[in-house]
Amino acid sequence: MDAPGASPNRPLGESCPRAQDAAYPRGVLLTEIDHVAIAVNDLEAAIGYYHDTFGAEVEHREVVESDGVEEALLKVAESYIQLLTPTRPDSPVAKYLERKGEGLHHIGYRVADCGEALDAVKASGGRVIDEAPRPGSRGTTVAFVHPKAAFGTLIELVQE
Ligand code: CO
Repeated sequence: MDAPGASPNRPLGESCPRAQDAAYPRGVLLTEIDHVAIAVNDLEAAIGYYHDTFGAEVEHREVVESDGVEEALLKVAESYIQLLTPTRPDSPVAKYLERKGEGLHHIGYRVADCGEALDAVKASGGRVIDEAPRPGSRGTTVAFVHPKAAFGTLIELVQE
């Protein structure tokens, strides 16, 4: 429901109260859900499940050696399901699977500027995993925000 006196024809950025909040001058930094990442033991089996059950097709596959993961991206509208599996036993995703088993690993939010979004997290007292933006898959620039300070969800800021 619109607030009293609100115009239905306002530009999108103005419809969110935070965009006009002096304490939050940057406005809304998250522009879209980029991907939902799911950690799996068997990448081929997980791809088969999403294909056979939902008709989802793999659009991109990549091994990110620095993170010790292989990933498959399946497009859903303008976002992706990102299936992740470890490529070596000491990768963070391998440790995650050992500790928690298969399931939701992180959410990737699209941002216009990864550095600016990361600065905003730090300025608001949030804990970060990456102190500076770094290369992600598909030629993106990314940074991770620590789940402890983000209500239990590992957050990835993704700039395309
Ligand atoms: Co990701």
